[in-house]
Amino acid sequence: MKDTSGKISGFSKLSAAEKRRTIAEHCLGNAEDSYKFEAFHFADEVLQQKFEQFSENTLTNHALPFGVIPNVLVDDKLYHVPAVVEESSVVAAASKAASFWYDRGGFKTVAQESIKNGQVYFEWYDDVEWLRNNELFFFDQLAASTAELTNNMEKRGGGIRSFLLEQMPGISKNTLKLTLEVNTADSMGANFINSLLETIATEIPVFAQKNNRKAPEVLMAILSNYTPKNFVTMKVAAPVEQITWSKQYPPEVFAKRFVQAVQIANSDVSRAVTHNKGIMNGSDAVILATGNDFRAAEAAAHAYAARNGRYASLSEAGIDEDRFWMKLTLPVALGTVGGLTKLHPTAALALQMLGNPGADELMKIVAAAGLANNFAAVASLVTTGIQRGHMKLHLDNILSAEQASPKQIKAAKEWFANKTVSVSAVRDFLANSR
Ligand code: MEV
Repeated sequence: MKDTSGKISGFSKLSAAEKRRTIAEHCLGNAEDSYKFEAFHFADEVLQQKFEQFSENTLTNHALPFGVIPNVLVDDKLYHVPAVVEESSVVAAASKAASFWYDRGGFKTVAQESIKNGQVYFEWYDDVEWLRNNELFFFDQLAASTAELTNNMEKRGGGIRSFLLEQMPGISKNTLKLTLEVNTADSMGANFINSLLETIATEIPVFAQKNNRKAPEVLMAILSNYTPKNFVTMKVAAPVEQITWSKQYPPEVFAKRFVQAVQIANSDVSRAVTHNKGIMNGSDAVILATGNDFRAAEAAAHAYAARNGRYASLSEAGIDEDRFWMKLTLPVALGTVGGLTKLHPTAALALQMLGNPGADELMKIVAAAGLANNFAAVASLVTTGIQRGHMKLHLDNILSAEQASPKQIKAAKEWFANKTVSVSAVRDFLANSR
């Protein structure tokens, strides 16, 4: 029967060029339009092929600006931090905050831990109490089964740190959750943890058989992106009189307004989500630049923000004895070896810009970028509002999209200095000036 739904069959088996032609035909109306995808290919074919292999069904490359947040001082070490982000004013805001805090001692690590985790969920049809009583023996056998996998990681300072067995009475009396805590040294470690968990999953029935227990049933084994023990806490602090950010308010008024805004983010979910989004603006930009998994970072950050049963701000601020402080705790699992970090040429360049840090060092830089953006965003909100800065960049983007001449750009900037920027207003202005 003829398929009239437009479903494409056997797509994954087509060559890259055929895939482009097929999609051009189905989605752009003409197979010949596949050149529209090819237009964004690298001239270097080897590089292009490398990119195509990062994912599947690759049609073309999708570029984002790779910028820099200069002067990020973290634990007395200076970084010029690579940032990949498409949103205007994120890099400008972080740069302004980084420079401000550079002059006031920079960002300081208050606490850090690097323990990731994963779970095996299984049904233990035999006596659960027996398993609990033989827990250590059970864990030893599971750990022994992973020796081949952990050998190398242990040489790099990582490896299994602990096991924890818990019952899940809400599911059934037989359902057990085995948590594995792991240090993955400088790698993000997703493959390592999942391999460990899958090895352990096959060993659980072996353990049962050896001990004449009923055969258990493993349901699934997977790392957790909830990494509350893989976190860094980053802080900035200075005497209130030095918080000379605003022309509008004296430092003590600015600081008071700022702290109140953070308190609101801590108690009101409407504000907390946007506040945390401002943090992730900076953090994700560095995570993306260095070839790390920003989806994992997002999932972890927001789950952590809700760890007390209520979604709240990831950062805090206060004034203690005339000292203003702001701190951010970010759970973030990163790698500086393995994954895309070395394969992706601009991710490798980004890491090189940072002096090829280890994962713990990169976590600090990512948290500092998040805190810088958060500081700048809240500082704008309690003073001028964010639109003034945004609109300047928005205007640049519209003028560029409309292909305005240098003379028109200059005139438009003067005209819109005290007017509301919109695409239609800029178009009207350009039409009148042409
Ligand atoms: C915009 O991308 C981020 C902000 O909304 C963050 C915030 O409100 O704190 C400015």
